[in-house]
Amino acid sequence: MLTIAVSKGRIYDDALPLLAAAGVVPTVDPDKSRKLILPTHREDVQLLVIRATDVPTYVEYGAADLGIAGKDVLVEYGAEGLYEPLDLGIARCRLMTAAKVGVNHERPRLRVATKYVKTAQRYFAKQGVQAEIIKLYGSMELAPLVGLADCIVDLVDTGNTLRANGLEPRELIMDVSSRLVVNKATMKMKHRAVSEFIQLVSQFVSNQANAPR
Ligand code: ATP
Ligand code: PRP
Repeated sequence: MLTIAVSKGRIYDDALPLLAAAGVVPTVDPDKSRKLILPTHREDVQLLVIRATDVPTYVEYGAADLGIAGKDVLVEYGAEGLYEPLDLGIARCRLMTAAKVGVNHERPRLRVATKYVKTAQRYFAKQGVQAEIIKLYGSMELAPLVGLADCIVDLVDTGNTLRANGLEPRELIMDVSSRLVVNKATMKMKHRAVSEFIQLVSQFVSNQANAPR
């Protein structure tokens, strides 16, 4: 049995065609069911549809053999204990700093609101900027508007969320897309099944990348 942990929400939706390329088609729709383990058309594959930030944990501990998660989540988690064989090219966005339009903060210690605490700490330390990081769990864009923080570190795609709140993107921290990750023991113990899966998915990903738009 291969168990694959997938971030629920947008990554799950974007991952469905990639999984289908390897014959993995869930028989249950997670939006319509309370089931946490989804069987698939392949008897030897099951899916766990879980919160994005939990995917590396399930894979590192071997509760899932494979996982699909954003690079943002993997970097924040510190996924050295996982193999990352494939960039799936889905859920592309950028991790950026952002602040109120035209406003520059001169205080000695910048206040930064984010859910990416470790990544932000590392980034500002590298820039030589003294930063106080305030951990939030969502709606980071609100923090500068109500004086909780001078700036935020968050994902930006179209920029609509920033614009709608009078914020602007400032510095790029990293480009983000979803990656396939593999438990290290699984790579050895289930080598054949995993290699076959990676081969089918990577073929699909490169066909997509080369397809005319
Ligand atoms: P949680 O429920 O754990 O708080 P979340 O609400 O952040 O997670 P999503 O917003 O679905 O969950 O984000 C999951 C992943 O999708 C992110 O880690 C990132 O890799 C990617 N992502 C998030 N927002 C965007 C976006 N606007 N465009 C493209 N990809 C995105
Ligand atoms: C994500 C992210 C930003 C937004 C950026 O939130 O946290 O708020 O997308 O995308 P944009 O640049 O295209 O506006 P999401 O929509 O996933 O909502 P969330 O707050 O539930 O994470």
